[in-house]
Amino acid sequence: MNTFLFIFLPYLTVIVFIGGIAFRLTVWRKTPSPGRMTLFPAPSKGAGTFWGVVRESFLFSSLFKGDRTFWGFAWVFHVALLLIFVGHVRVFTDFPALWAALNIDADTMSATFGGIAGVIIALTALVLLVRRIGIVRVREITNSTDFFALILILAILLTGNMMRFGEHFDLELTRTYFSQLMTLSFTGIEIPLSGIFRVHFLLAQLLIIYIPFSKIMHLGGIFFTQTLVQRS
Ligand code: HEM
Repeated sequence: MNTFLFIFLPYLTVIVFIGGIAFRLTVWRKTPSPGRMTLFPAPSKGAGTFWGVVRESFLFSSLFKGDRTFWGFAWVFHVALLLIFVGHVRVFTDFPALWAALNIDADTMSATFGGIAGVIIALTALVLLVRRIGIVRVREITNSTDFFALILILAILLTGNMMRFGEHFDLELTRTYFSQLMTLSFTGIEIPLSGIFRVHFLLAQLLIIYIPFSKIMHLGGIFFTQTLVQRS
């Protein structure tokens, strides 16, 4: 079972993720969209321009105009997520020469920024969940898949924070494990023993497999959306 979950499943996860995204993009590209026609000739002002798309992607400008409180939480959530993703590079590999050249204590930096981002993102995710349950108007348009995604993300955040703030977690071992997975060298491969790590990693794999088939794909949809291009 462990061999399936921690040696075989990671490859399946990557294949389903990349294949699923390619499939979604192909479907979007082939879907007739009259709004998209307005991009050619490209609009010269408004949301459909290059900077309009950049503003929408990084600042969620239309959400800002619609609901500022929600925008605040959603924006902080995504910024913290970005920080965490960047930080996760160190889970897979490390750059001692870079830290030495920059004179940075990488462990302290990662503990500080990872710790702060981990707590902030867990709190904002909790607020987003409470909002879905507590505000009737929002609850009415929430379906079980929205709850599934939010609860799955919350569980990943919680187990991540448990590793970060709980008893010392051996990152060296995860790096060796992932480098063996990446180089297909399975002899003597050691799956990290930590139960919290295993739960965190399994839930993260579930999320990664789920992403291409879920609303989380809104990330890519922005470049195809009708509302964005039609407003220009
Ligand atoms: C391949 C998937 C993943 C692996 C192998 C992984 C592994 C880890 C490890 C080893 C830590 C502990 C780091 C430390 O204590 O130094 C951690 C922390 C954390 N993880 Fe993940 N993780 C994965 C995906 C995710 C995803 C998708 C999310 C968010 C949705 C996430 C959120 C967090 C958070 C919030 C922390 C605590 C703060 C931090 O250290 O950055 N992880 N993860």
